Amino acid sequence: MKSTEVRARFLNFFKERGHAILPSASLVPQNDPSVLFNTAGMQPLVPYLLGEKHPLGTRLANIQKCVRTGDIDEIGDNTHATFFEMMGNWSLGDYFKKDTIQWSFELLTDKEIGFGLDAQRLYVTCFEGNDDAPKDTESAEIWKNIFEKAGVTGERIYFMPAKNNWWSAGDNGPCGPDTEMFYDLTGSHTSGMTKEEYLLADDKQEIVEIWNDVFMEYIKKDGVVVGKLASQNVDTGSGFERVTAVLQGKNNIFDTDIFEAVMREVGKITDNLKSQRIISDHMRTAVFMIADGVVPSNTDQGYILRRLIRRAVFNTTSRTLTQPPVEAIVHALFETYGSVYENLIPQKEKIVSEIVKEAEKFAKTIERGLRALKQVLGGIKSGMSVTEEEANEDRINPIRNRINGKELFFFFTTFGLPPELFLEIIDVDRKNAETEFNIYNREKVLTEFKEEFSKHQDLSRAGSEQKFKGGLAGTGEVETRYHTATHLLHQALRDVLGDTVQQKGSNITAERLRFDFAYGEKMTDEQKKKVEEIVNKKIQAKLPVQKIVLSKADAEKTGALHFFGDKYGDEVSVYFIGDSLETAYSKEFCGGPHVSNLSELGHFKISKEEAVSAGVRRIKAILE
Ligand code: ALA
Repeated sequence: MKSTEVRARFLNFFKERGHAILPSASLVPQNDPSVLFNTAGMQPLVPYLLGEKHPLGTRLANIQKCVRTGDIDEIGDNTHATFFEMMGNWSLGDYFKKDTIQWSFELLTDKEIGFGLDAQRLYVTCFEGNDDAPKDTESAEIWKNIFEKAGVTGERIYFMPAKNNWWSAGDNGPCGPDTEMFYDLTGSHTSGMTKEEYLLADDKQEIVEIWNDVFMEYIKKDGVVVGKLASQNVDTGSGFERVTAVLQGKNNIFDTDIFEAVMREVGKITDNLKSQRIISDHMRTAVFMIADGVVPSNTDQGYILRRLIRRAVFNTTSRTLTQPPVEAIVHALFETYGSVYENLIPQKEKIVSEIVKEAEKFAKTIERGLRALKQVLGGIKSGMSVTEEEANEDRINPIRNRINGKELFFFFTTFGLPPELFLEIIDVDRKNAETEFNIYNREKVLTEFKEEFSKHQDLSRAGSEQKFKGGLAGTGEVETRYHTATHLLHQALRDVLGDTVQQKGSNITAERLRFDFAYGEKMTDEQKKKVEEIVNKKIQAKLPVQKIVLSKADAEKTGALHFFGDKYGDEVSVYFIGDSLETAYSKEFCGGPHVSNLSELGHFKISKEEAVSAGVRRIKAILE
């Protein structure tokens, strides 16, 4: 059965049973800050499961786009995917257990209108009961009758604890016991299994879960079941890719027709099967994310997207992804999804360009990261940068070339190199004998990294509370680089446009800098180019960035720029770029922080120049 037929049969089945078919909601939850992406079909429906009236009635069904990134490291095995579609039907206080289970069975096994699976290969679990809710004998009884009527024999209904058969989306919200359906992939378990045999078959992945019917009549608060909902609801979920794999006799989702087109294109950029699966999965997810408005960044949804694209790039043979293969891959995905999701094809250009832009950034990142890494390695080898104390602290062990979470964090903040990828790079390069770095304990290093990361977040928070008076928050390392670049830009603008240029405002994010300045005209392309050239030349010259604390009067005598009236205290710090205060290229009153050397900045580029108001221009610029 073709996957398009699976889609059609599912929706039609429930339409004919009085369900309104909803379009898939966006991957990004609209009113739920507790999750970055929808992870189940029920998520957009939470308000209705909690009692709000749904405009389309009490019976709903759809195929919902979902993203789960918890197992990002497992992608490439048989069943995991970051993006998947969940087929589901819902009852909002309408039908309950009997109809739900009956319909699940019918759709799974009916040859005419359903999927025509062999009922003899079907196994089910029910909730065994606990303090929150009684044993679900009702569901088990319904299954028993269904199997009897269908002439299906042998032991195939098992009671399981809450760990397996209680479902909720998180610590808060609607929840309840469920009954789960499993299908025997091997065809060798047709006459029933004891519970022990069933557990073993599950362990060996001989059976696979294909549908989950949740009876949502309870509510959870902070992880504790606190009572019943006003109505008895049903929430079901069946993985579209998994069901299709089962129906197409495949033991993994990547061999189904859903992945056929994309795997064909990805096959052209790597021979490695695992890499092909990773790239196919990640590109598919990236395409859907971008179509739903996500763009690569360093936070939230954007960070997940960034990681996916970078991991895809990393899995290509050349460790690059240029426009032509990206276009081919996106086209292939449109072959499969273009007619299902209307928002994809019209956004083709944006989708391709966001992926290519990120891939290019990453190529540079890898290059810079590796160069810096090799420098560090050189330092370690010659014993220069490692004191005995550091070695004792387990910071860097010069003998075993260990690397720890702090280094990882440094490379993450300075070069934007995600830690998992960094570890992979080192791993691969070590195998290729390109570096002698050794990760002696991956888990420990990642834990150290996370500790460092959260420490840094606390610092950032503290930092932004005491925001520097000039308006530059100056928090993370990426922002710090932009902060220094802002000083360079300021001086370069004065070089090119004259001393009337004065800072009017500044705003920095991890993505870009924004600089407002007094100037009466639109800048010409030539002027912009000139400014870029000056800034990049200074960066290439690897000038140091230094700080000196002076009394306000002395500071003013240095000629350092300061444009914030009398907001400074008696003592001010002046940051200067250059070998000495006298010869410095740029001098400004500033609270910092700044990088210590311009070589940390990378390549500077103006991305936009526009008017803010009469006499004030705005530049946005990025470091690549
Ligand atoms: N919401 C249920 C699940 O995701 C159906 O398994």
